[in-house]
Amino acid sequence: MSDRLDIKLRDGTPILARPLVPADREALAEAYRRLSPEARYNRFWTHTGEVVGDKMLDRILGGNPDDHMTWAVLDLSREFPPLGGASWWKNPEDPTEAEISMVVLDEDQGRGVGTLLLAVVWLSAFRAGVTRMVGYTHIENRRAAKWMRDCGADATWDGYKLIFRWRLDDLDGLPETLAAADLADWLANLAPEMLG
Ligand SMILES: CC(C)(COP(=O)(O)OP(=O)(O)OC[C@H]1O[C@@H](n2cnc3c(N)ncnc32)[C@H](O)[C@@H]1OP(=O)(O)O)[C@@H](O)C(=O)NCCC(=O)NCCS
Repeated sequence: MSDRLDIKLRDGTPILARPLVPADREALAEAYRRLSPEARYNRFWTHTGEVVGDKMLDRILGGNPDDHMTWAVLDLSREFPPLGGASWWKNPEDPTEAEISMVVLDEDQGRGVGTLLLAVVWLSAFRAGVTRMVGYTHIENRRAAKWMRDCGADATWDGYKLIFRWRLDDLDGLPETLAAADLADWLANLAPEMLG
């Protein structure tokens, strides 16, 4: 079982996917600063500027890996910033469910990084006993909403946000989309390494 994944994006770029650790704190704060205001709002639901608060850094980097992980995808040809990152947190009231959240740098969106991150959080959460994942978007975040649907999530609307749900133990429901085909490929390719 490995948590250091040396892989390639579909354009051949060599990348490393790995969990973030407390020593990544400064790099994470700098990556946050480099996001566009739009990506920052879509991921963090806040318009409070370029400086990430300590509470958010603690939320992303802290905790027990059985309950929460944050993964980053790094382009090995450039030291910084990472291409993107994704987290999952178990629901304390129902540890078979986890909330996920992710962001890809604006200039690197559409290269398959988000779908790879979804597969990585899927497998690492599943390994920790999670069988259902839930993600949220603003109604106006059409791109993320379409992509989550394309990746097989069921969508509902609670009057404030869109809610996307996946069952991790059932791949039969994946739709016939490029994103779902990518997701299924990553799950099949990474499962032996990540689930051991
Ligand atoms: C939502 C988000 C994470 C998606 O990440 P991404 O890296 O752009 O996603 P991917 O590249 O894996 O997939 C997205 C696109 O590639 C397409 N795609 C997937 N596999 C493909 C393939 N083999 N060939 C061509 N296109 C493909 C998808 O259908 C999708 O199309 P579209 O967005 O152009 O309509 C990213 O847009 C983002 O960070 N947004 C800001 C933060 C946010 O909204 N987070 C979500 C809420 S937490």
